[in-house]
Amino acid sequence: MAGPDFVSLREVGLRDGLQLVRQAVPTETKLDWCREQAACGFSEIEVTSFVPPSTIPQFADAAEVLAGAKGIGGFRAAVLVPNLKGGIRALEHGAEKITFVLSASEAHNMANTRRSSDASAVEFAELVKERDERGLKEHVELSAVIATAFGCSIQGDVPEERVLELAEKLVTSGADELNIADTVGYANPAQVQRLLRGIRRQVGQVPMAAHFHDTRGMGLANVFAAIEVGIRRFDAALGGLGGCPFAPGATGNIATEDCAYLLESIGLSTGVDFDRLLTVRGRLDEWLPGERIEGRLMRAGPAKTFHPAA
Ligand code: COA
Ligand code: ZN
Repeated sequence: MAGPDFVSLREVGLRDGLQLVRQAVPTETKLDWCREQAACGFSEIEVTSFVPPSTIPQFADAAEVLAGAKGIGGFRAAVLVPNLKGGIRALEHGAEKITFVLSASEAHNMANTRRSSDASAVEFAELVKERDERGLKEHVELSAVIATAFGCSIQGDVPEERVLELAEKLVTSGADELNIADTVGYANPAQVQRLLRGIRRQVGQVPMAAHFHDTRGMGLANVFAAIEVGIRRFDAALGGLGGCPFAPGATGNIATEDCAYLLESIGLSTGVDFDRLLTVRGRLDEWLPGERIEGRLMRAGPAKTFHPAA
């Protein structure tokens, strides 16, 4: 499947998306969503977040959701963690992939995780050791997410050198993947290409992913920019849900269905059954009643001239 014409689209609606949803979504609803999205052909879904229920009550059922998701099977069940403690819980509950988030913005890292970015990077290195000592190196992928890599709504500028320095550190510590995130929708396509190329030069061949928010309408332009510099892994959230509760002004991710439409339109295959994806997207209104749901494609429908990539 993998090849230059294949793009892995990772659904993060159940994690990034639900972070900003105030209504408590029942565990069964989360698992219905998971099941239906997996049936569309998504090979990876970030199903929940291992954080204290006091910080994000939505994820109080993290262990149940992860267990349920693994029971569904057919896709890699990933979870987000913001610290070592969350990482150890995720290992103990059988996560198949752990995305460890830290921010290139010192101010956001402090607001989000109450520690410095360097302290978070040390915890990531400790998590790699924990995983390896438990004999799970071959079974649990550890992805390092560099949040606010393109700017921060608390501190403003985030120096590119700082992002490169963290990228280097995380890869040296053993990251299996680097995920570069525009948490607050500050990135533009030229910046995306410059930074992603710089990181690639810095870290060599480690797999890289990108995570964009559409806060200022740049989301899909940024995806295209990243495609042009060789990125083939993207995060997206169904219905354009999402946003970090600890970043002022944060709004939704790029919508999964819109991103799939872009990729398939330009001849890049996502492995996703497109019609089925739109059906699942339709169910989101039922799963999250009253929630503000974005995305253009659902409003207009695919063009008559649209054909998914072969
Ligand atoms: N999962 C569950 N419990 C956790 C935990 C985790 N990941 N991390 C810490 N805890 C528990 C501790 O065991 C401790 O519990 P106790 O009081 O019963 O002993 C309590 O939470 C405080 O632990 P501490 O290590 O002091 O954490 P903290 O209060 O400094 O908070 C974070 C640090 C990272 C847990 C917190 O800032 C957080 O949850 N941030 C959320 C970040 C996020 O998800 N952002 C959105 C994605 S970008
Ligand atoms: Zn995000």
